[in-house]
Order: sequence, then C-alpha cells, then structure tokens
Amino acid sequence: MRKATYPINPLFLDRWSPRSMTSEPLSDDDLLPLFEAARWAPSSYNSQPWRILYAKRDTPEWNLFFDLLVEPNKVWCKNAAALIVMISRKTYERNNKPSPTHRYDTGAAWMSICFEGHFRGLVVHGMSGFDYEKARQTLNVPEDYTVEAMAAIGKRAPKENLPPELQKIEEPNDRKPLNEIIFNGKFK
Ligand SMILES: Cc1cc2nc3c(=O)[nH]c(=O)nc-3n(C[C@H](O)[C@H](O)[C@H](O)COP(=O)(O)O)c2cc1C
Repeated sequence: MRKATYPINPLFLDRWSPRSMTSEPLSDDDLLPLFEAARWAPSSYNSQPWRILYAKRDTPEWNLFFDLLVEPNKVWCKNAAALIVMISRKTYERNNKPSPTHRYDTGAAWMSICFEGHFRGLVVHGMSGFDYEKARQTLNVPEDYTVEAMAAIGKRAPKENLPPELQKIEEPNDRKPLNEIIFNGKFK
C-alpha cells in the first residue's frame, strides 16, 4: 500500500506499472487518446519535441518493435497491445538551435500517456531495456532526434498470467522519502 507524506490527488499513488496484460488488441479509439494526451503536454517555447512511433499487435510493424526488446522484457511484452518508442527533437524547429529541455519536455509527454492510460484502466509500462541503436536504424530515426524510451500498452490481466518470478513483483513499489529529493536552497 503506497502512502503519501502529504495528502495529494490519489492518481499519483494509484498509477503504477503492471506487466500482466491480456494480449487483446486495442482499437485506435482506445489507443490514440493516450497520444492525444501527450500532445497537450507543456514544452519550452511550445516546441513539442516529442514524436511517438508505435506498433499495434497483429500488424506488420509489431515485430520491428518487439525485436528491439531485451529478452526479460519480451517475456511479458508479448501480451501487450501496442509498443511505442518515444523520440525527441534535439533542436527547436523555429531556429535549429539546441533545446536544453527537449528531453524534459518529452518526459512530460510520456507522463501524460501514463496518466491517460491509467484513467482508462490500461497498462502503460515504460522500458529502457531495448537496443537503442537498432531502434534508431530500424525505425529510421533522424540524427536530430534522440531515442528516449519504449513503453508497452495493453489491457490489464491478473498477475497469474505472468511467470512466477514476475508475479512476485507485480505490485506497486515505494519511493525515496521527500527529504531526500528536495533541497530548500542549495544542493546538499
Ligand atoms: C524510462 C523508463 C524505463 C524503464 N525500463 C524498464 C524496463 O526495461 N523493464 C521493466 O520491466 N520496467 C521498466 N521500467 C519501469 C520502472 O521500473 C518503474 O516505472 C519503476 O520501478 C517505478 O514503478 P511504478 O511505475 O510502478 O511506479 C522503466 C520505467 C521508465 C520510466
């Protein structure tokens, strides 16, 4: 059971990253609203550096994305309905100057995907366990974009659908105490 030090909106505690999914597909009407949520994230100069590459299961693109994953992620992602790769434009489109915050902005868009998925009762599970260079090549990611992370999206399933070692960790985890992550003034 997650506990907040101060009362906060329950959505922050209730969102977590399950792994167990049913392997049912998602329609565009179920999936695209998550990307719509990302669209409205805040960004420096409203530059919107995020791009979302996605593949739905049972489509020709699926294997391109699935084959990028490390084996431990393949074990549970085989039941996902969609896999996404978040990429981020390093420069502002308006002047081609480097954006110091493009990854920060794209992270905000990713979080919006998490919350919209959470509101809809879907699994949204982020992943860095994949081959970044292969992703760049296979998915034609231009030089001016960084490959940030992947995520699996799907319909929730009972934890019994997972192999025993993953069942053991299929629950919300905890966080560092607040006093370890905030500094009133200078970094200590
Ligand atoms: C960028 C990123 C990369 C992650 N990579 C993986 C991964 O490769 N495999 C995995 O099983 N979980 C992965 N996770 C899930 C994290 O372990 C999880 O978000 C973290 O433990 C906090 O748990 P919670 O999301 O349930 O609150 C990743 C999460 C993020 C945000």
